[in-house]
Amino acid sequence: MNHLQRVLDALVERIDTPAPIVVADVMQQNIDRMQAFATEHDIHVRPHVKTHKCVEIGRRQVKAGAVGITAGNVGEAEVFAKAGFDDIFLAYPIWPAGTKGKRIRELAETTRLRVGVDNVAAIEALADSMGDEPDRLQVVVEVDCGARRSGAPPALAGDLARAARKRGLVPVGVFTYPGHGGSSGDAGERAAQDQHAALATAVRSLAEVGIAPEVVSAGSTPTIEFSTSSPITEIRPGEYVFCDLNNTRLGACNEDQIALFVAATVVSDWVPDQVILDVGTKALGREGSLERGYGGVAGRKAVLSKLNEYHGFLAVPAGESRPSVGSVVPVVPNHVCPVVLNFEELIVTDSAGTSLERWPVDARGFMS
Ligand SMILES: Cc1ncc(COP(=O)(O)O)c(C=O)c1O
Repeated sequence: MNHLQRVLDALVERIDTPAPIVVADVMQQNIDRMQAFATEHDIHVRPHVKTHKCVEIGRRQVKAGAVGITAGNVGEAEVFAKAGFDDIFLAYPIWPAGTKGKRIRELAETTRLRVGVDNVAAIEALADSMGDEPDRLQVVVEVDCGARRSGAPPALAGDLARAARKRGLVPVGVFTYPGHGGSSGDAGERAAQDQHAALATAVRSLAEVGIAPEVVSAGSTPTIEFSTSSPITEIRPGEYVFCDLNNTRLGACNEDQIALFVAATVVSDWVPDQVILDVGTKALGREGSLERGYGGVAGRKAVLSKLNEYHGFLAVPAGESRPSVGSVVPVVPNHVCPVVLNFEELIVTDSAGTSLERWPVDARGFMS
């Protein structure tokens, strides 16, 4: 990860900390590698934009060959639709209350919109909100593969698809999220096996009601490597675009692939074996644990042992030199997604730290 300190050293006079720095060429390699992997296995990539919330990065993913994007809420989908993205999968069990039904209908008029469903009540409510044009909305049945989050039992996928079809919606397939693949080193492979079994059951269930799925959609960065066999037709990785410490620990990426870090300044050093950085939960989110820490510093063993809102406590192990007050260090987050929520723009540079652009985090703040 020493490449990150070099990038930062080249930039340091031109930025204020804390700041999220994107190394564009490393990010582009991540995008291209994922695309090449999918192409090799004859599956589509539909990246989850929650990781970056940035139109420019979404455009690069589509330019590299992504079939469309995955969004996590209606607001995110609206921001990207407004920017010209016309193939959006809202991979979430949407409940169309408040103005959401109307907003989904409007989105479905201008894009090819797919939304997740996992229960009959939501199917009915979505159909109601589509008025006399339910066939504009494609639905994808979410099934649970062991993450125990949302998703119906896989064997019920057919019943839900039939309920959607009865109301005039267009059931196009199934999806699942193997969220339990992120817990430890070999959890990814096991979760991918669960994912495969659940999707295969769901596809058989669809067949029983006469539906041949157009899409069988799988997650997620830690399981991608094992998510290539039939019936999977598409993958929805998010974090791969930047990578982070969690994915590095899981073996889903390596340190050289980390494309986003937070530049932080050492602001105080009175306590022995510790320095204080100007990054706290307001920059990083509270991602981590006492054992693992709350983020690392590229090229050092030291980890953030505690976070306040604006203060990061960097515990410097015996034998490691303390960075001096005023020095600027690259903090690598445990989980990269919450970082972009905290900044108006990403500072984008290259591996030499020469170029400097600012890209807005367009969907920041669109939480519903
Ligand atoms: C439904 C869904 N699909 C895909 C993803 C992408 O997962 P990752 O960011 O681990 O690649 C997520 C992550 O939260 C998700 O919730």
